[in-house]
Amino acid sequence: MSSSETLLNVSDLHVEVAGHDVLQGVTLEVPAGELHILMGANGSGKSTLGLALAGHPHYHVTSGSAQFGGQDLLALVPEARAQAGLFLSFQAPPDIPGVKNQLFIRTAMNAVRQAHGEKPLDGFDFLKTARATAKDLGLPAKMLARPVNDGFSGGERKRNELLQLALLHPKLAILDEIDSGLDVDGVRAVTTLVQKLRGEGMSFLIVSHYLQMIESLQPNAVHRMESGRIAESGDIELARGIAKTGYAHLAAAVEA
Ligand SMILES: Nc1ncnc2c1ncn2[C@@H]1O[C@H](COP(=O)(O)OP(=O)(O)OP(=O)(O)O)[C@@H](O)[C@H]1O
Ligand SMILES: [Mg+2]
Repeated sequence: MSSSETLLNVSDLHVEVAGHDVLQGVTLEVPAGELHILMGANGSGKSTLGLALAGHPHYHVTSGSAQFGGQDLLALVPEARAQAGLFLSFQAPPDIPGVKNQLFIRTAMNAVRQAHGEKPLDGFDFLKTARATAKDLGLPAKMLARPVNDGFSGGERKRNELLQLALLHPKLAILDEIDSGLDVDGVRAVTTLVQKLRGEGMSFLIVSHYLQMIESLQPNAVHRMESGRIAESGDIELARGIAKTGYAHLAAAVEA
C-alpha cells in the first residue's frame, strides 16, 4: 500500500453507548504510514471512537461506515479486526486474572499469524523475543509470568500495552492516552517505540492531552473532537493552540 492510500476511512459514524448517542457523525481519514493525534475535552468521545472501531460489544454503531484497508471494518468481529491489523491500547487496561500475560500475548500473536497462513510461534523463540522487548520497554521480565495486568501499577499496565503493540506489529495502532500515568522514562519509551514502528510503515491514531508528547511524535495531522464529532483538523499548530487556550472558550464560542 503506498503512503497516499487511506488506511482508515471513517465516515459519519454514529455510536450509541448505554442508551446515549455518544458519537454523532465522526468523519476521519488516516492515510497509510501517517501518525494522527486525536485531542478533545474530557467526555468528547475519543475513547468511544477507539472502542467502537475495535468492536467492543457495548458500543453500537447506529449509522455511518468505517473502512480499514479497503475492507468494511464494521462487518468484522473484533478478532477479525485485530487479524486485519487493527490494534487498540486501552486508556484503562483491564485485568485478566488467571490468564498468564505471556500466554495471552502469544495466543494473540498466533491468532494473527494463523489468519495470515503463518506457522505458530515456537514457545522458546516467543519468550526470548518477548523478554528482550519487555526489557527495552522497562518492563521486568517477571511481568510476563503474572496474570494480565493483575496487580500491575498504572505505568506497568501502559508499558504492557506497549509490549503488545511491539510484538503484535499491527498496521494501525490506536493508542488511547498511552502517555498518562507513565514516568519520564516511560514517555520516552513511547516516543522511541512509536517512531521506530512508524519508520517500519505502521500508522497511528494517538489520543493525548499533552503537548510535549504530541510535539515529540511529529504528527502528520491533529484533530479536535467535540461532542462526538471531529470539530477541527489541522497540524501541530492546532495542538499548540489548544495547549495555550484550552477547550472551555471553544465550547463557549459554540454556545454564544
Ligand atoms: N458505558 C457508558 N455509559 C454511559 N455513558 C457513557 C458510557 N461510555 C461512555 N459514556 C459517555 O460518553 C461520553 C464520551 O466518553 P469517552 O470516554 O469517549 O470520552 P473521552 O473523550 O475519551 O474522554 P477522556 O478525555 O476523559 O478520556 C462521556 O460523556 C461518557 O460519560
Ligand atoms: Mg478517553
